[in-house]
Amino acid sequence: MKLNVDRFQESLRTKRFGKKTVFLREVDSTNDLAKELAANGAVEGTVVVAETQTAGRGRLGREWISPKGGLYFSVVLKPDVRAGEAVKLVFVASLAVAKVLRELYGLRVETKWPNDVLVDGRKVCGILTEMNTTGETVNIVVVGIGVNANFDVEEVFPEPLKKLATSLENELNRKVRLEELFTALLERLENVYDQFIREGFGPVLKEWRMYAGFLGRRVEVTSQTERLHGLALNVDQDGALTLKLEDGTVKRIFVGDVSVRTR
Ligand code: BTN
Repeated sequence: MKLNVDRFQESLRTKRFGKKTVFLREVDSTNDLAKELAANGAVEGTVVVAETQTAGRGRLGREWISPKGGLYFSVVLKPDVRAGEAVKLVFVASLAVAKVLRELYGLRVETKWPNDVLVDGRKVCGILTEMNTTGETVNIVVVGIGVNANFDVEEVFPEPLKKLATSLENELNRKVRLEELFTALLERLENVYDQFIREGFGPVLKEWRMYAGFLGRRVEVTSQTERLHGLALNVDQDGALTLKLEDGTVKRIFVGDVSVRTR
């Protein structure tokens, strides 16, 4: 099921997000094109969306496999905040996605620090935010969102990912209308983003925590340099994960991957 551009434009109810949208059948990475457009003066809210990506990128240099049927898009933002605040936009985006998946499809969604959205412990959406800064001044932020929508992960993903990922089609046993999903995501994203700019991170974080199923659980956190085990206590005002280690000390972690331990 392809994205119907006319139906998208008719139903979009945003003030800025998506008013300028570049639709592509294929692109290397929507984030890369959005960054290029932003560098050439694209206004805040400009969106790039593609049916597939040939070089979709994930966090920490990973690949984001982007088969047809998924939703891959990037939004250009120019927030008037310091770089230390802009890093929190990943929470803005994952909260918006979690709310939409719950509201539209009634799914029991969870957020996982820092940037994943899961259903039943499996990843259904990933978010990659990238910034261009001069010192603490933010010039451009690009928020890239990839949703596994209308495909079967068993058919399209390689073996190790099959167990870790899911799709809306796998969860709902049907295909979804991509334009409905896309407009809802842009509306929510604009709405949560505007709240973040107006009221700061506090209210966003408070709501994000309500989806954060890993809090209070024993987790493993891996970063490029270490692997830690402990109890996930909280995500704090700086967006850091606070982890209670097995020796009782509490450590704040800014970059890493969390997996919930079942044993
Ligand atoms: C992750 O989970 O590691 C983040 C994945 C982000 C994927 C999206 S798809 C749209 C945008 N373009 C990219 O190349 N990546 C993001």
